[in-house]
Amino acid sequence: MTGGASGIGAAVVRQLAAKGAKVVIADLNADKGAELAKEVGGEFVPVDVTDTSSIEAAVNAAGELGPLRVLVNSAGIGSAQRTIGRDGEFASAHNLDVYKKVIAINLVGTFDAIRLAATAMSRNEAAASGEKGAIVNMASVAAFDGQIGQAAYSSSKGGVVGMTLPVARDLAAAGIRVNTVAPGLIDTPIYGEGEASEAFKAKLGESVLFPHRLGEPDELASMVVELVTNSYMNAEVVRVDGGIRMPPK
Ligand SMILES: NC(=O)c1ccc[n+]([C@@H]2O[C@H](COP(=O)([O-])OP(=O)(O)OC[C@H]3O[C@@H](n4cnc5c(N)ncnc54)[C@H](O)[C@@H]3O)[C@@H](O)[C@H]2O)c1
Repeated sequence: MTGGASGIGAAVVRQLAAKGAKVVIADLNADKGAELAKEVGGEFVPVDVTDTSSIEAAVNAAGELGPLRVLVNSAGIGSAQRTIGRDGEFASAHNLDVYKKVIAINLVGTFDAIRLAATAMSRNEAAASGEKGAIVNMASVAAFDGQIGQAAYSSSKGGVVGMTLPVARDLAAAGIRVNTVAPGLIDTPIYGEGEASEAFKAKLGESVLFPHRLGEPDELASMVVELVTNSYMNAEVVRVDGGIRMPPK
């Protein structure tokens, strides 16, 4: 479980553990990761998804607890920057290092975790259904309706959406299903904490079709659990967003 220390990932960790899974929390945040691992009787492994060797270590740690059957990719960062500046200077165009960093974490990191975890899953003995594993990725509605300033973030999440079908096709022969969730606006630490962010979140919630509020991490986690457990779900991208279609800004 990448990004399992916080937000949507943490809710997924709790729901999977409640169903009896032994969960490895693979996250940058050691304090929160280790605390949650203790709470659910899982294991924390320090992982930066831009560092292949740390992902390999997490996959190996999972393999020691039992056959690795599920990968959930939730590690991700946001970013907000317009493609060009206001003064006509090249120097004020979108910072390219920022763009590359968002792609490295959200897109390349997701694929790296998939290729390594799926390799381990391919060694599993198949269940009676033929299944050896299931993978769920976290994209975003920004893959489809990215807003002003979301070029980098939307590119990364669009990549996750785009890889879902071909990766599911690659892994079909190994009995591994691949699905992606595209969350709308979900109430997690990504929006910060305190009075100002509560007011900001309430305002954001008004733009949701129905219900007029942000989503709860548990509402996302429940879809992840469905995609993990429903043997007939494959190669799909599911929006969980209260019907929101994001406006330009
Ligand atoms: N909250 C939302 O409204 C929302 C909407 C759409 C998509 N998403 C996506 O859902 C996922 C989870 O978001 P969240 O809201 O729970 O955010 P969050 O910030 O609460 O959790 C993200 C977790 O990822 C970890 N992480 C970040 N960079 C990492 C790295 N390089 N290696 C390993 N771990 C790393 C963080 O430490 C954190 O624990 C993200 O991919 C995000 O883009 C969130």
